[in-house]
Amino acid sequence: MEFIIASDYDGMSRKAADVVESVMKDAPECVLGLATGSTPIGMYGCLVEDTAKGDVSFANVSTFNLDEYCGLTGDHDQSYRYFMDQNLFDSVDVDKAKTHVPNGCAADVDQMCEEYEQAIEDAGGIDIQVLGIGHNGHIGFNEPCDHFPVITHEVDLTESTINANSRLFDDISEVPRKAVTMGIGTIMKARKVVVLANGEGKADIISRAFTGPVVPEVPASVLQLHPDVTVVLDAEAASKLDIA
Ligand code: GLP
Repeated sequence: MEFIIASDYDGMSRKAADVVESVMKDAPECVLGLATGSTPIGMYGCLVEDTAKGDVSFANVSTFNLDEYCGLTGDHDQSYRYFMDQNLFDSVDVDKAKTHVPNGCAADVDQMCEEYEQAIEDAGGIDIQVLGIGHNGHIGFNEPCDHFPVITHEVDLTESTINANSRLFDDISEVPRKAVTMGIGTIMKARKVVVLANGEGKADIISRAFTGPVVPEVPASVLQLHPDVTVVLDAEAASKLDIA
């Protein structure tokens, strides 16, 4: 596990973009696993700028997002499809047909989840998975529980996650209670993983996830077992990390 510690959010965003771009430059037809949340917005901004400059191209890239709220259609401004369109897809040269976000409105959720896993396999697997981390250690929407869920599946969101994400909705009652997420197994199959975190609010969970025991109660801790993880932090998120 490699740690890159930047002084601030902009530095974290730049360094995370560099990690993703190095994969894109090595393999222009690569498969990117993408994340939402406030944390990667700056990184997406760097990717947009670098695409505009011609440094990098999404023309042959495929993407798979980690998760989506249940019950929100792609045109809802809090859906993760909408987030991706706004923060990346509409501003780069990606073929939208090659961008995938789980369908949170599928009539048969289990079938949709199986098809999502199959689509990742058919694309050749994920070359690099971008991850943020929840305050309770969730990755994607894999919430703390007594096991590591393997494949894409439906989850009940915890009160902690609903509260954290309510800041983006007009009222907490509008936050969906369920979501669909790649499983821990889906994430662990990615050939490379880059985790981003910023701010002192993430310092405790970063320390627990990456220097504490590997337990499903801290889902991100499983990444200690992955052979190629880069953790990109700002100084505040790294402030409780004892990696000397
Ligand atoms: C959400 C997303 C996660 C994200 C996490 C942290 O619940 N499902 O993929 O990593 O929140 O979000 P933020 O980056 O806004 O702190």
